[in-house]
Amino acid sequence: MSVIRSAVTGVGSYLPEQIVTNADLAEFVDTSDEWIQERTGIKQRHRARDDEPTSDLAVEAARRALAAAGKSAEDVDLIVVATTTPDMTFPACASIVQRKLGVPVCPAFDVQAVCSGFVYAMSVADGFVARGLSKCALVIGAEEMTRLMDWTDRTTCVLFGDGAGAVVLEPREGQGTSADQGLLGFTLRCDGSKTDLLYVDGGPATTGTVGHLRMLGNQVFRHAVVNIAEAITSCCDAAGVEVSDIDWFVPHQANQRIIKGVGERLGLDENKIILTVETHANTSAASIPLALDVGVKDGRIKKGDLVLLEAMGGGLTWGACAFRF
Ligand code: UT7
Repeated sequence: MSVIRSAVTGVGSYLPEQIVTNADLAEFVDTSDEWIQERTGIKQRHRARDDEPTSDLAVEAARRALAAAGKSAEDVDLIVVATTTPDMTFPACASIVQRKLGVPVCPAFDVQAVCSGFVYAMSVADGFVARGLSKCALVIGAEEMTRLMDWTDRTTCVLFGDGAGAVVLEPREGQGTSADQGLLGFTLRCDGSKTDLLYVDGGPATTGTVGHLRMLGNQVFRHAVVNIAEAITSCCDAAGVEVSDIDWFVPHQANQRIIKGVGERLGLDENKIILTVETHANTSAASIPLALDVGVKDGRIKKGDLVLLEAMGGGLTWGACAFRF
């Protein structure tokens, strides 16, 4: 049976220039390089300039993804931006990206599922591409998490960073098997009864301010390993593949211990996991496409490889997505 799948034909990413090390943070908050590395795996994070909004990071990542796909801004007919740190409450970051890139009139909107945003956005864009409604979709994860930090709260401010990653999705005809190029399956979940474990204490309809990120880290941690592992097995079922078939795992980069815990639970080969948490820290919805770009650019992820993305974040949301590159 012939089917249309959404194929990842280009990947790109962008990190702001400024690097903030653990030692830099230890100068003004009661923490240490040793604690941060041991508990999270993080050594440094990138931080955007004051005059560099999220849309700027998104645009640069998108330009690089379009170049990798051999496409131009005029070809784009859908923009989905996964972000929890848009430039403004509205318009959507996607509208600003469209203007800055010079993309013609098309659907453009944001998806807000916090750290799981990129996995959610891929599923949304796949709906357009697989139904013939888009021939060249830009799916972007872009965040400036440092804007949400309470710099006196050592339990959160050491964990996050800024950055953006993007993919181009184009339709490819397949035979309806897991050998097809393109997106093969998803699992998306949310448990709204756990909103109080990870949230921002502000917003337009509450305090009228942006607010700061608050997290009960060890409680989120407890949910992460079990739920992510279940989402991965469920996604593999949906895609018609075995976990052991996956060539590359590209996880959300929140904490190296979570990634290792999931790996151990599922018996994954750790050489098949793309890890960037050490240098990028947690960039929320941007972390997966940033890591994907690292794996593609350094030649580990090759055409035809089976790739699995997974994430968990505020909501609590979590999910996974499998595609053949
Ligand atoms: O991306 C969205 C999803 N988010 C996540 O997946 C994050 C999940 N959670 C985590 O990654 C971990 O829970 C953290 C890295 C946030 C914390 O690690 P932990 O091993 O769970 O530590 P903890 O929260 O249980 O805290 C242990 C101790 C506490 O001190 P006491 O009470 O034992 O004296 C904290 O006050 O570590 C202390 N602590 C710190 N010490 C130095 C917490 N933050 C710091 C810090 N520096 N930055």
